[in-house]
Amino acid sequence: MEIKGLQVKLIEAEKIRKYLSEKNLVKKGFKIKKDNEFIYFPVEKIPQELNSYKVIKSKFEKYKTEPKSYKEIISIPGKLKDELPTSYDITGDIILIKIKDSLLGYKEEIGKSLLKTNNDIKTVCLAKPIKGELRTRDIEIIAGEKNTKTLHKEYGLKFEVDINKTYFSPRLSTERKRIADLVRPGEIVIDMFAGVAPFSIMIAKYAQPKRIYAIDKNKDAVEYARRNVIRNNVLDKVEVIHTDAKKIHNIFNQKMVKANRIIMNLPFSAYLFFEYALDIIANPCIIHYYDILKEENISGRIEELKRKAEEAEIILANFNIKKIKTYAPREFYMGIDITAKNYADVA
Ligand SMILES: C[S@@+](CC[C@H](N)C(=O)[O-])C[C@H]1O[C@@H](n2cnc3c(N)ncnc32)[C@H](O)[C@@H]1O
Repeated sequence: MEIKGLQVKLIEAEKIRKYLSEKNLVKKGFKIKKDNEFIYFPVEKIPQELNSYKVIKSKFEKYKTEPKSYKEIISIPGKLKDELPTSYDITGDIILIKIKDSLLGYKEEIGKSLLKTNNDIKTVCLAKPIKGELRTRDIEIIAGEKNTKTLHKEYGLKFEVDINKTYFSPRLSTERKRIADLVRPGEIVIDMFAGVAPFSIMIAKYAQPKRIYAIDKNKDAVEYARRNVIRNNVLDKVEVIHTDAKKIHNIFNQKMVKANRIIMNLPFSAYLFFEYALDIIANPCIIHYYDILKEENISGRIEELKRKAEEAEIILANFNIKKIKTYAPREFYMGIDITAKNYADVA
């Protein structure tokens, strides 16, 4: 089939290529071709600014491969294409995507295009903001199967998740593995806000802790955590406890257990639980503290943690602060490693 082509001198090729691609005018799925003198761009239409160039009708070779990005096949007005998100989360066979309000009228089209270009995906959902104490979110399925349960794989582990009822972030996988690699043999680890237990299970599989306690207040998360512990064969290492993290003092006092390492992954609120964590520390204890903070508020939050520690006669040291991912403009999902020691031991 012959289609329209724009004939451009080789010397001008790069300039025009950029222009056409910025304006989304190159005809998708067809290869650009050239001879000794000219380059020929397969085009949808010719903008007025390029009227001085010759337009030919010619056969253009088709790309054999499937389009790689949903943006290449989506049919929405060209000016909106720039607003399409380039990234989205994949949990198991579900895509979770955030889109701007200006694109909401095209959500089904976005969902269908994502399904077509991602062979392993069965469902595409709009991600609404994470909310409330249990850090869950409302979900709107925009394409594919009406299902929010899935099986996510990372580092050879398998996690059952219901993205509607439990928190789960595939973007934390590297962080989970980093923590597992820090755990020394024989440690007692307390995962205070464990969700479906991805940190706990990663540690059980990739380190040799004595025991891990995975705590969560969300009964759905606890149910999935228990299933995941069995599925990953770490029942001998991980104990899942359904409780409010504010009650850990009683639980661990009764068990006569102190933590060598505590994971506090409850951004926005973890600081409210810091004193409860300090109540159950061995001496010393490493705390992996997570928060969502603006750059300028990091030192204030650290001072607050130090104050709480001082009240409990505990000294905090070896702060290792890292940005894990961007949450909003100038706001980051932060991980802070902290060593906590009793005063008596330091003196
Ligand atoms: C951000 S999620 C982290 C889940 C998990 N660590 C992960 O990485 O997937 C925070 C978790 O804390 C739980 N949570 C919130 N408040 C809690 C509380 N007071 N006590 C125990 N768990 C709580 C929520 O149910 C949620 O599963």
